[in-house]
Amino acid sequence: MNTMKNKVALITGASSGIGKSTAEAFAAKGANVVVAARRKEELDSLVASIEANGGKASAIKTDVSNAKSVEQMVAHTIKEFGRLDYAVNNAGIEGKLSGITDLLEEDWDQVLDINLKGVFLCMKYQAKAMLNAGNGGAIVNIGSVNSFLGFPTGSAYVTSKHGLVGLTTSVSAELAPQGIRVNLLCPGITDTPMHQRLRGIVGDDLYDKGLLPTVHLQRVGRPEEMANAIVFLCSDASSYISGSTLTVDGGLTLTM
Ligand SMILES: NC(=O)c1ccc[n+]([C@@H]2O[C@H](COP(=O)([O-])OP(=O)(O)OC[C@H]3O[C@@H](n4cnc5c(N)ncnc54)[C@H](OP(=O)(O)O)[C@@H]3O)[C@@H](O)[C@H]2O)c1
Repeated sequence: MNTMKNKVALITGASSGIGKSTAEAFAAKGANVVVAARRKEELDSLVASIEANGGKASAIKTDVSNAKSVEQMVAHTIKEFGRLDYAVNNAGIEGKLSGITDLLEEDWDQVLDINLKGVFLCMKYQAKAMLNAGNGGAIVNIGSVNSFLGFPTGSAYVTSKHGLVGLTTSVSAELAPQGIRVNLLCPGITDTPMHQRLRGIVGDDLYDKGLLPTVHLQRVGRPEEMANAIVFLCSDASSYISGSTLTVDGGLTLTM
């Protein structure tokens, strides 16, 4: 079903995990896709696989914490495909997990620069392109269940994800009157390289016996399940949803 034919989707953090699945999901709907991240080789192989399946895609090496790089990412999108309809601001890191007394200033800065400032920079340039074209659009930022819940040693990550709630609702209030919807998708535990790294730190036992039983669906989510919800938030099926947070966590945040 090519319901997004001739539309253009830009996805950050597309070199792995949720971003990669999201790029594939947009391509499957017929959208032209621009994939951005720091690791260009991973992006190039994703482009090759999308094109082998009949889609159109283009890669751009990007560091979302750098304004110049983000500006170039959006300019590349317009140069390659002539427009920008959907933007998914997914790039993020867990950073170094550390108790507050040991947390280094540079580690705090790195997480906030990528996870929070990066989304601000992306929306700044994406919104300019969308407003200039006058075709409306949809932006989906990627938060987390940690947009609502804290955990010990996670203060930088949790703060960055909480900040996205305020950033998303404020920018929705600015842009929705001009036809650009802005929402926050909050994944639960999702099987990606980030999840595997965190599982390694927390330990299999705590993950399997402490965390998984709190998920109503009793399993880890799949990246494709996040991608489906992201595509929904960009599609016309969500035409009255803006400024919202959509939690896709199998029930995790509802458990006491
Ligand atoms: N997996 C989970 O359980 C889970 C749960 C809740 C929320 N999330 C959120 O979902 C998003 C995707 O995470 P994931 O699980 O798919 O993790 P992942 O597999 O580690 O992917 C993270 C992506 O972000 C990119 N990235 C990191 N820093 C970047 C930068 N400065 N500029 C551009 N791209 C950058 C990485 O690419 P490069 O290294 O190539 O730059 C990679 O493509 C993140 O925002 C994460 O916080 C994940």
